[in-house]
Amino acid sequence: METREAIYKRQSIRHFKDQAIQQTVLEEIVKDAQRAPSWANSQPGHVYVAIGSTLKEIKKRHLEKSQQGASGNSDLETTHRNTWSVEAQTNMENWSRFVSQRLQEEHSPVFAFQDAQFNLFNSAAIAYLTLPQNANGWSLYDLGAFGQTLMLSAIDRGIQSMPAYELVKYPKDLRETMGIPSSEMIVMGIGLGFPDGSGINQIYTKRNEIDKILTIKK
Ligand SMILES: Cc1cc2nc3c(=O)[nH]c(=O)nc-3n(C[C@H](O)[C@H](O)[C@H](O)COP(=O)(O)O)c2cc1C
Repeated sequence: METREAIYKRQSIRHFKDQAIQQTVLEEIVKDAQRAPSWANSQPGHVYVAIGSTLKEIKKRHLEKSQQGASGNSDLETTHRNTWSVEAQTNMENWSRFVSQRLQEEHSPVFAFQDAQFNLFNSAAIAYLTLPQNANGWSLYDLGAFGQTLMLSAIDRGIQSMPAYELVKYPKDLRETMGIPSSEMIVMGIGLGFPDGSGINQIYTKRNEIDKILTIKK
């Protein structure tokens, strides 16, 4: 697949089919992600992938906590939206409006979005990206590049993805079920799988006009 095709094909998928991903394919995707650049080739991250009965247990615990209304406690600090830049706040508001509009157009019930979060998007596999607790900002940059490379490699293999805070909001459970040591912070989760045709997957987001974010100086 052409690189640009993969870039534009990637979109957040919020409901995956009940179809497993072969373990060898998961390994290949992570191997591809390792080609991402990092500061002095430090390769600071670690990947933990949940499938099978471990993923089932994670989903069960997540659903229970979500239904109880347990508040999230991610390892990365989650700051209130009003502390973000004005531009970012506007983009987030626009996104919320766009999602509601698309769900209405698709006749998807309003609760579908929350339901998807509660059920961890019915992911066939979840990759958790971690860094050592004392990692610096450069490593965070490196891990982001790793995550995007992973998602693009997945696309090349017909697999879609879902990067989400929702997947890492209860880190204590993930440490217990995945054996992730307390010396590592769980930065991000990426759900993987094959998209189904549900309305919630028909949200193809827009981006700002390029002149809003680009400055070229001659
Ligand atoms: C750091 C991060 C956290 C996110 N957390 C969630 C989440 O908890 N739930 C969710 O439905 N989407 C989540 N998303 C997906 C974004 O809403 C999505 O990437 C954005 O709207 C752009 O849409 P696209 O991925 O389809 O291009 C997250 C994305 C990122 C990068």
